[in-house]
Amino acid sequence: MKQAIEIGRFITFEGGEGSGKSTQAGILANRLARSGRSVFATREPGGSPGAEEIRAALLSGRVAPFGHLAEAVLFAVARADHIDNAIQGALQEGQWVVCDRFIDSTRAYQGATGGVPRSAINALERLTVGELSPDITFILDIPAEEGLARAEARAEGGRLDRFESQDLTNHERIRRAFLDIAEEEPDRCVVVDASQPEAMVAEDVWETVLQRLNP
Ligand code: TYD
Repeated sequence: MKQAIEIGRFITFEGGEGSGKSTQAGILANRLARSGRSVFATREPGGSPGAEEIRAALLSGRVAPFGHLAEAVLFAVARADHIDNAIQGALQEGQWVVCDRFIDSTRAYQGATGGVPRSAINALERLTVGELSPDITFILDIPAEEGLARAEARAEGGRLDRFESQDLTNHERIRRAFLDIAEEEPDRCVVVDASQPEAMVAEDVWETVLQRLNP
């Protein structure tokens, strides 16, 4: 008799610079693992060998001269590789996939702030993610000024990458774009106040996962 295969769950974290989403993605992945789930923790751009190579080119700024559309296309190429060679397989094995950034980052950075038309962003999504949609997307919300101050402190005199180094107005726009996405898709997106202490943010995230996905 054929055994029923349990498909895994897909959770993504989104937010501006210094919102603490990578930390929160890590905390959630650990919690899920402790509760007995098999977890695949990953990130974008990157997450598969091919996509990590594209990540290096994107974050170095080498693609920037070709314009925002070119960047959006390359983020999409990286995403397709990540899905085909990592995410899809993990979900089919029943793993819980926790991903630091996903489609909403392209919508916010290349779309809302980069000016790539929504029709182009939608077309890229159809080509790359198709029907695959996160079960929950956490939008970690923090005022741009606060987030940037955190990101700069983290860089400790080091250089901010191509996307971190945009000006405050752009970061405000990115924040707004994420909040707009959350308003458009309330079933998928949950906004969390990321200016709270780390442990409280983690509690909010965990409560939502418990309520919605019953791990
Ligand atoms: P990363 O070092 O992963 O930083 P962060 O901690 O902010 O996630 O850098 C990823 C950068 O790439 C980030 O500044 C946002 C940007 N980005 C896009 O512009 N579009 C995208 O689709 C994705 C996934 C990321």
